[in-house]
Parts: sequence; structure tokens; C-alpha cells
Amino acid sequence: MVKEVLVGLNCRPGCLYVDGTVGEGGHAAAILDSTRPDGRLWGLDQDPAVLETAAARLAHHTSRFQLFHCSYSQLGELLAAAHLEGVAGILLDLGLSSQQLQASQRGFSFMGDEPLDMRFNPENGGRTAAQLLNRAPRATLEKIFWEYGEEPQARRLARLVVQARQRRLFRTTQQLVEVIKQAMGPGWRRGRLHPATRVFQALRIAVNRELEQIAAFLEQVPGWLAEGGRLVVISYHSLEDRLIKEKMAAWDRAGVMARLTRKPLKPTPEEVAGNPRARSAKMRLAEKIVTLSNQEKSHVC
Ligand SMILES: C[S@@+](CC[C@H](N)C(=O)[O-])C[C@H]1O[C@@H](n2cnc3c(N)ncnc32)[C@H](O)[C@@H]1O
Repeated sequence: MVKEVLVGLNCRPGCLYVDGTVGEGGHAAAILDSTRPDGRLWGLDQDPAVLETAAARLAHHTSRFQLFHCSYSQLGELLAAAHLEGVAGILLDLGLSSQQLQASQRGFSFMGDEPLDMRFNPENGGRTAAQLLNRAPRATLEKIFWEYGEEPQARRLARLVVQARQRRLFRTTQQLVEVIKQAMGPGWRRGRLHPATRVFQALRIAVNRELEQIAAFLEQVPGWLAEGGRLVVISYHSLEDRLIKEKMAAWDRAGVMARLTRKPLKPTPEEVAGNPRARSAKMRLAEKIVTLSNQEKSHVC
């Protein structure tokens, strides 16, 4: 949804934009291209490996971009250090990058057999998916599978995980896939989704505390935008989308940010055909309200 992002952010030269989930730099490159000659971009990501890819991809834009290894919920610290009061636009494109899914060897995909890590930032010392599966009480696992994965077999799966780890601790993705298939019973082949899809999503959300990060970001983001500045968020599952939708509605009611999308924007069928992972994407936009005293000023850049 690159075109929609550029329009949504209202990209113009001379302004500073933040890509809070820069990933491999696809959206960032488009933002830099569309804000020539002097628009600037800060790219943030928790994953040091994808930041290296982004740095190589954006290198030809030389001094117009900076990359930061941190969470988007820490943007306030970067703005304070740079003595900046607000930026013209912030993008979050949540979920996983292709590199993480296909080449990270961190267990985000259930297709191969990889270590069960699932941390976006393997340098932060947080617990891995394997540690969570091997140590969490049964009730906690059930809650994670149910609340973050909406997995109907959450209870049975949590019980089977606890039994399996007593025989052999979890280390790899295929060990978990086998237990998931056992929990789903022989009917697992009939479903539209692979039976591991929801469970892997749930573990990734829990390991990275994704919903807490989004909530912390949403609490602070109006203070990080200049008046008239735009927020664009692309989410990939209903738990994320609900948080964003409710917050944008609350801002709108309170006169803090205007909600620009009552219904989310979705990718075109052509885009989904080219990138099937985009099929569940939902994009929502909001704009920071311009106060009366500032209406005459150039407020955004
Ligand atoms: C879907 S990818 C972004 C792809 C990017 N828009 C592009 O065009 O290449 C999502 C990225 O968000 C990053 N991420 C997830 N949680 C994060 C957080 N709390 N702070 C910063 N980055 C995060 C992931 O590491 C991943 O690289």
C-alpha cells in the first residue's frame, strides 16, 4: 500500500517523517523519493538485522535519513535528544518483514525447522518463544493461545504443550508444529489456514509484547506530531486493529486528532495477488488538529 501511505502521510519536501517500523526500507525509500530534494526520514526498528538491509537500500539518499535501533514507542526520547517538538508524519507498518519470515532463522515461520526464538530484537535479553513454552504455567499458555491467537483449541493445546515439554523441552519450530497438529486432531488438513498460523502469531505477540508496545505508542503519539501532522498505521490482525480504531475514535471525540478513515483502507486485489501476505492489511489515518492560534502559521514542517 505504498501509494496510499505517501498520500496518507501527505509527503512533502522540507519535512521530517518517521517510519517507526522501517523493516527492509521499502516504504522509507518511497517516502525519501517523494520528498526530494530535502525531505528527511528517521527509520526505527527493533531488529538490528533488518536495519542493515534498510541501510544498504537507502544508502544513495545519503544525508537525508537516519536509522535508529529502538522501538517506535521510544520515539519521544529521540525527539527530545534532537530538541524537536514534532514531526510531519509517522508511519507504522506492523507485523513481520519478509526477511524475518524467510531468512532470519528465528522461528517466525512454521514452514522450516528453526530455533524457536521469535524475538524481533535478539539483543535485548528478553525471553524466547522456546523459554515461554518451556516455563510458562499451563493457564498462561492457554490465555496466550486464546487471547492473541483466537485459537479455539487453546485449552487442549496448552495441556499438550505441558505434556510434551515434560518429555523433551521445546527447541525448534517443528517440535511445536507436531504438538499443534496433535491438538487439532485429524481434521487439521481441512482448514483454510495452516493449523500453526494462529498459534505462531500468538507466541510472537507474547514474546515481543506487541500489544503493549502499540498501546504505549498510541498514548504518546499526539505529542510527537506537529499540528497538522499525520499518523498512518497498517495492521494485520484484529487485535492490533481494534486498539488503533478505538484510539483514533477517542482522539476524534476529544478533538486531539481528526480520524480520517472511519472504515480502514485495504489493499487492491492486484496488490494481494502480487503479495498474498498483504491480504489482511488494514490502514487507518489520523491528523493532529491545528489549534486556532496556529491556523495562520506554517505548522507542520
Ligand atoms: C512489516 S515490517 C515493515 C516493512 C517496511 N514497511 C518495509 O517497507 O520494508 C514490520 C517491522 O516492524 C518491526 N517492529 C516490530 N515491532 C517493533 C517495535 N516495537 N518497534 C520498532 N520496530 C518494530 C519489525 O522488526 C519489522 O521489521
